[in-house]
Amino acid sequence: LWLAVGIRHRQPGEPAIENGLIPYLGCALQFGANPLQFLRSRQKKYGHIFTCKIAGQYIHFLCDPFSYHSVIRQGRHLDWRKFHFATSVKAFGHDSFDPRHGHTTENLHQTFLKTLQGEALPSLIETIAGHLQDVMLRPDTLSSKENQWQVDGIFAFCYKVMFEAGYLTLFGKELGDDKCQARLAAQKALVLNALENFKEFDKIFPALVAGLPIHVFKSAYSARENLAKTMNPEDLSKRHNLSDLISMRIILNDSLSTFNDVSKARTHVALLWASQANTLPATFWSLFYMIRSPDAIKAAYKEVNKVLKDSRLKVDPNDPTLNLTRNQLDNMPVMDSIISEALRLSSASMNVRVAKEDFLLHLDNQEAYHIRKDDVIALYPPMLHYDSEIFQDPYEYKFDRFLDENGQEKTTFYRNGRRLRYFCMPFGSGVTKCPGRFFAMYEIKQFLTLLLSYFDMELLDPAVKVPPLDQSRAGLGILQPTYDVDFRYKLKSQH
Ligand code: HEM
Repeated sequence: LWLAVGIRHRQPGEPAIENGLIPYLGCALQFGANPLQFLRSRQKKYGHIFTCKIAGQYIHFLCDPFSYHSVIRQGRHLDWRKFHFATSVKAFGHDSFDPRHGHTTENLHQTFLKTLQGEALPSLIETIAGHLQDVMLRPDTLSSKENQWQVDGIFAFCYKVMFEAGYLTLFGKELGDDKCQARLAAQKALVLNALENFKEFDKIFPALVAGLPIHVFKSAYSARENLAKTMNPEDLSKRHNLSDLISMRIILNDSLSTFNDVSKARTHVALLWASQANTLPATFWSLFYMIRSPDAIKAAYKEVNKVLKDSRLKVDPNDPTLNLTRNQLDNMPVMDSIISEALRLSSASMNVRVAKEDFLLHLDNQEAYHIRKDDVIALYPPMLHYDSEIFQDPYEYKFDRFLDENGQEKTTFYRNGRRLRYFCMPFGSGVTKCPGRFFAMYEIKQFLTLLLSYFDMELLDPAVKVPPLDQSRAGLGILQPTYDVDFRYKLKSQH
């Protein structure tokens, strides 16, 4: 009977196991309702590692941060590609990127590193600075009357401005006359449409990762396909200033894969999603917490003014050419801390590896556990992020939490008197760590810097409560707020 309902028994040397009460789903509902509370209660009961059945899959949760390294380092027993490639295929519908499946010989990981890091960064930074200023200072973002406050939701504002700037930075603009009003209107409509389709598709992303087929969700399916239609090879060939990420994608799709045109277009949709789905809510939380904390915004203004002064940059909305170099952006520790603290409070990405074979997992306390082939091992970083032994008052936003006594980046955090190697993990870990993390930080930093340079802004209600996190996306990255919060902004008066 146990076998018929798919229940596993704990074997000697294996972690404690919870099959849950519901066949197939196992503990999925309890986990989904409040992952942190669920994992904490099981940790209390079972210790550093335990196994839960979640939606048909046995997952070993490792909760001891000092043992994280045994999963994060690239051991021969653990496979990261299996889970990641399969998830992307499930969600976006392109052919597999796993070379073992025979559709491509590309090393996708290498492509990401080459096109999102190192030498690729300066041009990404410069391009997005231009687009951010264009969008922020455009008549439809700004009130027509000078010195008049404009009210908007912070979430709505961040999505509008960052999506367009990020989209144009990656996918370039259509070739043609930049002064032609009809063409500009068409360009804007394309991006707005893409944002609507992106949001419609993003809503059901957790269900797709959980294994539900996209055909169940008719409007999300058409949203994804609408996005793909704008990214087929012919359309992309009409665009200029494509990022390296996308132009390499086109070349490698054509030269190393057997993907058809629909599959190729869907690989671009996957990149659009990866570049925006976490960045947009991360920008919301960074801006929200920064404006809400008088100390944070004061320190941010001070840092931005110093950078502008040192680099002799002039703030002029009629000639919006504020371009900070990578070096200047690297020297903004206050802004880094403001963003990192927002990420600490809002990120919930699960780090996952799959066991390639039966093996023995060694923990930091000398214990070792048998893991079975094809089982999943997971780390859930919010357990660190909300640990009061690591972060005092963990539910509070402290903008300077990641600053040391010299005002520089703080990297020493302790638990039980021992220094931690991992303490803040919004971008994942090891070989699957987000390849776009440097660009993401530069993007958000520039967005905040430009806002502070051009605008006065404040919350409509300075005592507004922090909106709760939408836990339906727990495990998948930066969580969204359950509702928007209004703020107002206006152009600074020019001296
Ligand atoms: C993957 C976080 C922004 C590109 C990931 C992963 C996380 C993450 C947690 C998965 C890591 C894992 O599975 O262990 C974030 C956060 C961002 C952000 C918090 C913003 C605050 C970006 C941006 C880009 C990007 C701006 C590109 C322009 C990617 C790509 C992957 C990825 C391509 C897949 C990597 C792979 O499968 O090898 N990101 N990301 N991300 N991210 Fe980001």
